[in-house]
Amino acid sequence: MMNILVIGSGGREHALAWQCAKDDNVQHVYVVPGNAGTALEPKCQNVVLEPAHSEADEHSAVIEFCQNNAIDMVIVGPEAPLVTGIVDACRAAGIKAWGPTAYCAQLEGSKTFAKEFMAQNDIPTAAYQGFTDADAAKAYIDEQGAPIVIKADGLAAGKGVIVAETVEQAHDAIDDMLADNKFGDAGSRVVIEQFLQGEEASFICMVDGKNILPMATSQDHKRAFEGDTGPNTGGMGAYSPAPVVTQEVHDKVMAQVIQPVVNAMNAAGHPYTGFLYAGLMIDKAGDPYVIEFNCRFGDPETQPILMRLQSSMVDLVAQGLAGQLPSDAQWDARPALGIVVASKGYPETSSKGDVIAGLPELDANSDSAVKVFHAGTAFSHDSNADTANTGNNKEVITNGGRVLCVTALADTISEAQQAALAVTGAISFDGAQYRRDIGHHAITREKAKA
Ligand code: AMP
Ligand code: GLY
Repeated sequence: MMNILVIGSGGREHALAWQCAKDDNVQHVYVVPGNAGTALEPKCQNVVLEPAHSEADEHSAVIEFCQNNAIDMVIVGPEAPLVTGIVDACRAAGIKAWGPTAYCAQLEGSKTFAKEFMAQNDIPTAAYQGFTDADAAKAYIDEQGAPIVIKADGLAAGKGVIVAETVEQAHDAIDDMLADNKFGDAGSRVVIEQFLQGEEASFICMVDGKNILPMATSQDHKRAFEGDTGPNTGGMGAYSPAPVVTQEVHDKVMAQVIQPVVNAMNAAGHPYTGFLYAGLMIDKAGDPYVIEFNCRFGDPETQPILMRLQSSMVDLVAQGLAGQLPSDAQWDARPALGIVVASKGYPETSSKGDVIAGLPELDANSDSAVKVFHAGTAFSHDSNADTANTGNNKEVITNGGRVLCVTALADTISEAQQAALAVTGAISFDGAQYRRDIGHHAITREKAKA
């Protein structure tokens, strides 16, 4: 029997933990720090590690936990620990950890690194220039005109990107990032990019250094409001598969984007291992351009993708760790769609402590067609928004920006949207917000065919 440690506290980690727990060979899934959803999941247990004073402390605490609890594999959810080298630290201690090394994680950790890497390896992406000086940045914007895209260089939880419709908006973004330091160090350097037109898709693979296993395709909805309006968020909903990724587009992405990353990282002496996520813009001709790389699974893409995964995640990760990834996995042919329910004020702020009503009973049947994945949730029994275990009979409260992801499997995307909306509509908390149009690109296609 195996013990798994999942690092993270979002909807992605709830989905990863739930998938791992479904495997009959798994005894315990520990989640650090987890959320109320992972606390309630059968076989799963949240773990609170001592607050760390440094990255090295944080890595040591994870390693010590693994050694004391016979952990067979660590799956790292979010980018931050990957960028600081949790995989390198685990490997050095003889612990199997699934994810990229700090070197490879720079693909996400630094937009400048990613853009230079793409230029060197002929990976299609938007033209760009990097700036640290506000006046030089504004002069470049004046020269290029709008629309134009301004990005904070470092990690900003998916929120350090401004798609400016006008030159004035672009100047304001420069003032925020370079002059007012709104994004802290992450924004002390900006990348200014050509605005790309087309339809977005998320292309996520598992990579073991040489073999590539593409996950089912998906599409996220980055903007806060319906009709893809409002500010960028970490993602307000996603579905899988994404019909914009036809077989032809899929082949192009593998040949022009994913394989070049794997080859170039090998050539640099840093084989890429772990999840690799290319955020793509697909133009009218079906040509893909990379908007960004992430060194992890997407959130919320993980939730619908893993609803469809019929292979064991644990087997796939074990094969990945052994350098023996298969070239495909088993998927439910039905599409899945997840709607994110966010708290009051998201994405500018978030709200904690609002009591969540109407959550469905946890379904003992893990093959149920609707699953509510938790993200920013906790139990109300103390004011520290505790996420520890034994949550039975305790109120579940909000504890962050994105709170839940209600995910449904159905025969069509339209039906999956309806099923997810029905459950979402029964859930309520003060200030809850969600989009009713998740999946609209695919639903328009379905209606055109019908
Ligand atoms: P990122 O964090 O780089 O993925 O950017 C967040 C979102 O901003 C993307 O999902 C796109 O919707 C939008 N975006 C980023 N870069 C561009 C671009 N060059 N052209 C058009 N939209 C973009
Ligand atoms: N959903 C977008 C991301 O995970 O970055």
